[in-house]
Amino acid sequence: MSARILEGKVFAGQFKEDARKRAAALKEKYGVQPGLAVIIVGHDPASEVYVRNKHKACEELGIYSEVIEMAEDSSKEEILARIDSLNKDAKIHGILVQLPLPKALRSSEEEILDSIDPVKDVDGFHPVNVGRMVKGEEALLPCTPHGCLKMLELAGIEIEGKKAVVVGRSNIVGKPMLHLLLARNATVTICHSRTENLPAVTREADILVAAVGCPKFITADMVKEGATVIDVGINRLPPAEPGAKGKLVGDVDFEAALEVAGAITPVPGGVGLLTVAMLMENVVQAAEMQLA
Ligand code: GUN
Repeated sequence: MSARILEGKVFAGQFKEDARKRAAALKEKYGVQPGLAVIIVGHDPASEVYVRNKHKACEELGIYSEVIEMAEDSSKEEILARIDSLNKDAKIHGILVQLPLPKALRSSEEEILDSIDPVKDVDGFHPVNVGRMVKGEEALLPCTPHGCLKMLELAGIEIEGKKAVVVGRSNIVGKPMLHLLLARNATVTICHSRTENLPAVTREADILVAAVGCPKFITADMVKEGATVIDVGINRLPPAEPGAKGKLVGDVDFEAALEVAGAITPVPGGVGLLTVAMLMENVVQAAEMQLA
């Protein structure tokens, strides 16, 4: 049997509509438009596409948006100074530094991200927001895992008491996904590159989240019959011919897993769209908190 395909646009559309209404309500009540500033350092092609999509979503929903393009060779001090002025800027309610940073700045990533005022941290990466999330307190939550969770809920997929397996332990997806599923009373296992007999673990999962960044890493034999499979990966395969663009694929072998899973997200057109929608919600939430 072929699985139910969880289309990102269906769910993202509903979350964006919610963000649009809440943004309009803030304009009406306070005369203020929620505002997002995105800092992009250098010219990573994928990052440029993601940043453009974030800017377009803001325009669509009545959210003010500033894209701050900084040179590849910007210093840590220059970036910290921009963040400091955005922290103080009343037009800006959310700040995001697009990752990855250029290689020379990678060792400063934590210092840069931690310099964002936690109330404007719409990525949910600041230790204050991470701590609140782990404790189950109100926080700005990381967009991708939060989008996955809300999609599961909206799709009517039961989480409570179910076995969830997260493959990948990044700070952006794997670790927060673990905490968000745990807060919904799932029994959660997190796997990584050192996990022994990974297929035996993933085959136990009622909900399987793949966030490893490796094309088609999860094969059909790693999926339990009827499981819900959430594919967070976006990988570009080498092009079939020189000059062409390689195909985008996820971390799951989609065509094969489709025959085993009960529900599955496609790539492209799955979780990626939810990330932008949840960012819009976070900007509105941040503005609501700052204006209240
Ligand atoms: N690069 C890839 N995903 C993300 C994300 O969620 N936030 C930021 N800031 N950069 C990213």
